[in-house]
Amino acid sequence: MSDESNSESGITAYALRISDAEVERYQLMARRAVRAEAEVWAECGIGPGARIVDLGCGPGAVSVEMARLVGAAGAVVGVDQDAPSLAAAEELGRRAGVGNVEWVHADAADTGLPSGFDVVMVRHVLVHAGSQINAIIGHAIALLRPGGCLYVMDGDAAALRFDPVDVDFADLYARYAEFHARAGKALALGPQLGSILRAAGLEVIHRHGGYEVVSPVLGGGGPWAARDAMVAAGMATPDDLARWQRAIERVAADPGSALFAPRFAAAGRKAASA
Ligand SMILES: C[S@@+](CC[C@H](N)C(=O)[O-])C[C@H]1O[C@@H](n2cnc3c(N)ncnc32)[C@H](O)[C@@H]1O
Repeated sequence: MSDESNSESGITAYALRISDAEVERYQLMARRAVRAEAEVWAECGIGPGARIVDLGCGPGAVSVEMARLVGAAGAVVGVDQDAPSLAAAEELGRRAGVGNVEWVHADAADTGLPSGFDVVMVRHVLVHAGSQINAIIGHAIALLRPGGCLYVMDGDAAALRFDPVDVDFADLYARYAEFHARAGKALALGPQLGSILRAAGLEVIHRHGGYEVVSPVLGGGGPWAARDAMVAAGMATPDDLARWQRAIERVAADPGSALFAPRFAAAGRKAASA
């Protein structure tokens, strides 16, 4: 868990614990993305020889997948402000045996990297970024070469759906959404990603909106990983944690459980003459 504080709210800037289970969850999402987004990744230029920055790379699962796709002639730079996440990313990169990925501890709005990258990837970051959204987008565009592509992806914590509905499990997710809303985070940002890129001067070449189905549901995901931060913010009690833990176990014991997670993506191209 990060101990970086958010000046807007006093709530930790990035509140998810990086446990082994969390890293596995990120790897699962990254592998799904490789399959589900293959066509648009290729259209954006994620392929052999590409030079890519993964801004807000977290434990590096997407960076590692992209490092495989760009191969030895390409390179990926994973950037994150959270030291424990970067340590997990380094470990993942080592285990995956990818030699073409570099990890940088920096703010996504000011990485210190040179310009000239083919692609910048920003996944599940802007929803956590509060007032920094435009600064991150502006810096991402500055990192691109002319004709390069910015790919952004976010969810919508207020639009999750469950089958079956376990009231306590749903309460964990609702509390997590409220936790972010109180911290000034843009929960429903996903559908707006296209207009954010357009307003920043990019030609929007792709938009996607849809639900990802996670079944069976094997844990409490991001909301459970943020339990300590929610307690610290006075938004959960030890009784809540015990109730949520029982709910997570109930849901995990049901092989038919499903979580429908909304996912939105947009890709924008920088002008060739920029
Ligand atoms: C939900 S994780 C997503 C990780 C990765 N992009 C993925 O999709 O697997 C969000 C990450 O963004 C990072 N982050 C958020 N705001 C940031 C900022 N301003 N600068 C650098 N990293 C940031 C957090 O530290 C966290 O590791």
